[in-house]
Amino acid sequence: MLELEDIQHYLLARPNAVIAQYNFITFHNAEAGRKWVEALIPTVGTAQSVLAANPNDMRWVSLAFTWNGLQKLGVSEEELATFPEAFRQGMAARAAMLGDTGINHPDNWEDNMASEDLHAVVILFARDKDERERCIKKHQEYLDQTPGVEILSTLLLEAVPPLDYVHEHFGYRDRITTPVIEGMVIGAKGEVAISTGPKEESRIPEFTSTSPGSHLPSKPGEFFLGYPDETGVIPLQPQPEVLSKNGSYLAYRKMQEHVGAFRNFLKQNGKTIEEQELVAAKLMGRWRKTGAPLVLSPDKDDRELGFDNQRNNNFDYEKMDPHGYACPVGSHCRRMNVRDTSVSRIMNRRLIIRRGGTYGPYLPDDAPDDGANRGIAVFAGCADISRQFEFLISVWANDPEFEHLNERDPFAGSIDGAFEVTIPKRPIKKKLKGLQAFTTVRGGAYFFLPGIKALKYLASLQ
Ligand code: HEM
Repeated sequence: MLELEDIQHYLLARPNAVIAQYNFITFHNAEAGRKWVEALIPTVGTAQSVLAANPNDMRWVSLAFTWNGLQKLGVSEEELATFPEAFRQGMAARAAMLGDTGINHPDNWEDNMASEDLHAVVILFARDKDERERCIKKHQEYLDQTPGVEILSTLLLEAVPPLDYVHEHFGYRDRITTPVIEGMVIGAKGEVAISTGPKEESRIPEFTSTSPGSHLPSKPGEFFLGYPDETGVIPLQPQPEVLSKNGSYLAYRKMQEHVGAFRNFLKQNGKTIEEQELVAAKLMGRWRKTGAPLVLSPDKDDRELGFDNQRNNNFDYEKMDPHGYACPVGSHCRRMNVRDTSVSRIMNRRLIIRRGGTYGPYLPDDAPDDGANRGIAVFAGCADISRQFEFLISVWANDPEFEHLNERDPFAGSIDGAFEVTIPKRPIKKKLKGLQAFTTVRGGAYFFLPGIKALKYLASLQ
């Protein structure tokens, strides 16, 4: 049973926030860092408090640390050595393996993301601008009380209009798919509850949306440390146990979206609006406006299907569309979750929980490209950075050998210069060549998201 009262809410509950701020933090000394952690603990929402949806309890604060941050707070070298190598090294040090070269190289990253002084991130979510300002002000008060802690950089996140559903700057509907974890109860409308005991259930319909997928629910140990994973055993945990139990890793990725280049591409490859929408859908694997999956609706968008949480994830690739005639093998969704495809022996070992949102100004449909910095800033939650996040990025997104395509993921791939996409068609494949990159990696880091007891442990270190 997941210890919901100890787990930070971030990966389990999804508050209805349209606005957020990430504060990236540096500690100048251990004492100040620990004081700051201690002051913030009561503001951190647990899975239980946020899932219970008490309207007066809108503490959507999350707190996570880099390996350098744990070291700075005074975790012993012996204990630090028990954390996995990927986390110890950090994302910037692993750039070559992740395909972050050329324009995507950490030398070009923003917000001091590649700096060794990056120690922590505070994620402040809010329902609206006023609420966010209140959170930011409150956090500033904590910082004023602890002079040895400073903000290294901040990133403002705002939902892209129109706000009737979540989408990113290219216009794709997002937040459709998320792994279902054993113990989650899915209601008739796709709402999620987490069973907190044999009888007791906390219902949280307005907080999360997920839907039954084509694979079985995941074991909790795929996302939270201290629980059995898909192999049936509890993997070795970093020590001491109080620090790691109920924790998760967050792989952060900030990607600029070149909306002008993307829209030009659609216009160059589709004469009519319908054709352009089909090209956009082929790149993603889902229709842009509704998220309806191409496997289930290959020729035209289907609003009812897209918004039906019982059906919009209930499909497979190998069995239903082996050649990719409906959903191209190289499309983003098909690469990021290969479902029943044979490249995956046990799919539930490669899942991530996606969190985050969009930053930068909205570019209206008819506006000329203004070159502004806009994109997504996302956290991939998992229990094993290397097996889950890094595998997705280095192999499924970036390895040209993936399914012998000689291509990279059109969105999550690190593309420096021209690239290609294949849209399988009977009787011949259609290969679009010399495309300009739609995205650029602008930052990244690995964080550890501890449980509440672990936060207390960090605050109490000597
Ligand atoms: C600018 C870059 C990106 C864009 C525009 C983008 C957009 C999207 C959209 C619209 C969806 C479909 C919505 C859904 O199924 O909930 C999706 C799914 C997904 N994306 Fe991304 N994404 C980007 C980068 C990434 C990165 C960097 C990762 C990996 C860390 C990632 C991992 C996934 C996964 C795992 C899914 C779910 C696929 C499924 O289960 O069927 N994406 N993405």
